[in-house]
Amino acid sequence: MSAAEFQSALNPAASESAHIAHLWWIFFWVTLVIFALVAVFLFIAILRNLRRVPDDPERAIIPEPAQATESRATKVVSALVVITVLILFALLIGDFFTGNAIYATPDPKALAIKVTGHQWWWEVQYQDPQPSEIVTTANEIHVPVGKAVKLELQSTDVIHSFWVPNINGKKDLVPGHPTTTWFTARRAGEFRGQCAEYCGEQHAHMRMVFVAEPPDAFSNWLSAQKKPAPEPSSDSQRRGREVFLASQCVMCHTIQGTKARATLGPDLTHIGARKMIAAGELPNTRGYLAGWILNAPALKPGVRMPPNQMSADDLNALLDYLESLK
Ligand code: CUA
Repeated sequence: MSAAEFQSALNPAASESAHIAHLWWIFFWVTLVIFALVAVFLFIAILRNLRRVPDDPERAIIPEPAQATESRATKVVSALVVITVLILFALLIGDFFTGNAIYATPDPKALAIKVTGHQWWWEVQYQDPQPSEIVTTANEIHVPVGKAVKLELQSTDVIHSFWVPNINGKKDLVPGHPTTTWFTARRAGEFRGQCAEYCGEQHAHMRMVFVAEPPDAFSNWLSAQKKPAPEPSSDSQRRGREVFLASQCVMCHTIQGTKARATLGPDLTHIGARKMIAAGELPNTRGYLAGWILNAPALKPGVRMPPNQMSADDLNALLDYLESLK
């Protein structure tokens, strides 16, 4: 299983999420104090009324002079309205400054990653001026700690929303309206992200693995991802590749270095190195991978990947091959 940290906006791992958490705590304490004050005054009012009735039934029935009560009440209510408006205004200013801090001046040297939302998975592409250096992967984002990252977000079908709570706030992916968001990870860790806008049957299972790692570890990962798929090193792996290339897998998937070049589904060039499969839903183990290949719709109803019939020998060979794609 993946060792992802608890998914929480209050456990920030980036400058942006730290600003959001800070604002959240200000709102929390201000509203908590107001709630406590209201509760106390309500309690006092109830107590006073309760006490009046049995002790002195006359007084409970005969009201105080109406005019005096009314003018006092008007003053108190007016004062409270002014205080409420001032508090809301102060919170609004805090909100404004937080927004400003999050959308700070873009860094031209930022690492650019294009993220495309699909029903129901994330396509992740590390941009590079040289087309041969572009890395395409799925449902797993690695970033170096301390470096600004620019996410170029887009959707090809319906509205999705990119959200890794420990890193930054939500950002909608609207078809036809590419957008960007920025963040700088401040500590290493593995976090979970997920789609935050209802996008159909498997919306709740449209997740991703987010890895913030030291710059060295990140560049090792990226250079491994840039390589084409490794050549099979055993007969079984070789047979597995034949099974892959002869089956309907090639209608949707790419494996760099082979003739499989379709882009309907996730790029599988380094599937063996990923922590999870099925858009962050299942651990990347041999058993889950086998189940996914044979009958993905049974695991995620509505998923675009069709069931696949194959012999046990073919399946084992295919698994050997896919697991070797590190
Ligand atoms: Cu994609 Cu919800």
